Amino acid sequence: MNLDHLVDDFNEIFKTKKEVHTFFAPGRVNLIGEHTDYNGGHVFPCALTFGTYAIARKRDDSKIRLFSKNFNDIGIIEVDLCDLVYDKKDDWANYPKGVVKIFKDAGLEIETGFEVLFFGNIPNGAGLSSSASIELATSIVLKDLFNLDIDMIQMVKLSQKSENEFIGVKCGIMDQFAIGMGKKEYAILLDTNTLKYEYVPMKLDGISIVIANTNKRRGLGDSKYNQRRSECESALKVLQEKLDISSLGDLSEERFEENKDFIQNEIHRKRAKHAVYENQRTMKAVKALNDGNIKGFGQLMNGSHISLRDDYEVTGTELDTLVSAAWKNGAIGSRMTGAGFGGCTVSLVYDHERTGFIEKVGKDYEEKIGYKADFYVVSIGDGARQI
Ligand code: GLA
Repeated sequence: MNLDHLVDDFNEIFKTKKEVHTFFAPGRVNLIGEHTDYNGGHVFPCALTFGTYAIARKRDDSKIRLFSKNFNDIGIIEVDLCDLVYDKKDDWANYPKGVVKIFKDAGLEIETGFEVLFFGNIPNGAGLSSSASIELATSIVLKDLFNLDIDMIQMVKLSQKSENEFIGVKCGIMDQFAIGMGKKEYAILLDTNTLKYEYVPMKLDGISIVIANTNKRRGLGDSKYNQRRSECESALKVLQEKLDISSLGDLSEERFEENKDFIQNEIHRKRAKHAVYENQRTMKAVKALNDGNIKGFGQLMNGSHISLRDDYEVTGTELDTLVSAAWKNGAIGSRMTGAGFGGCTVSLVYDHERTGFIEKVGKDYEEKIGYKADFYVVSIGDGARQI
């Protein structure tokens, strides 16, 4: 990415030649621990080297002017610092608007307006967190332009709050955390109950992380996401009548099996089963990795997909087709990643088999689904930062 070109674009679009500040926030991929972050469980994501660039400068008045090179046709979206409400027609710009509003509500002093040009090279709507990436990019822009006394974890929390309250998606903290706190060549084991975290080196000698995009548009995904969340909450409530637990993440597999029949609703029972087993699986996977047992890690990835397919029911034909093709064509492990209902899969593949793998999986997918998948061989990068 040529930053100078983005700065030139900024100057042309906002008709200025004043000094600008430049920032980057990555996308993320979750390796294992899916739909556990709002259930008090563990997640194991990492930041990527692609993400969102932001070029910004302060204004003297109270106008906020936002432009995305990914949505050239929409043009500049202008709002006032004192009038930040969700507006469907502002489209993507609701993400930065929400963050500004939440920062202000938290008592952080944003005295003037500003303008930002965004450019993202994360495939849009693919489940690699382009929206959380814009949120964190906005957070670090605000911190820098207004000299805010705030650390990264606080920015992560406020970004999540903006997604929950301003956008209305009841997401957990995983995406914002991975994007804010990411570290090159490390994945993050995060306990979403306590926010304790640990950087785990991803020593993948001779192995690539391959992301495959179903290219399925997600559509109803967000409402189904919120529905899964409330199904888990219902299951937890029932269990709490019998057990002293604060989240499903507090349960071992054994304790869940002993008590699961209290959950009368069969669907809620299945959702809770996934949340409990996936949390345990994530801890086992990190142990396998630390022991140098990459095959064991891969098998747990496969187990995660099966649980998301059969118990949590968030996969669908496109994701299942990609994952089955990956299993058939030599992946060490493969699973859907992110919220599901479309989006991407993540696979670990031996470097020397990679080209053939991508060809064969791509062919199987196109034959069955009728359109192409996209593949990205990714590297693990650092979290949100000024550049
Ligand atoms: C989305 C949410 C995350 C997490 C995942 C599923 O990416 O934003 O908080 O719940 O889905 O693991």
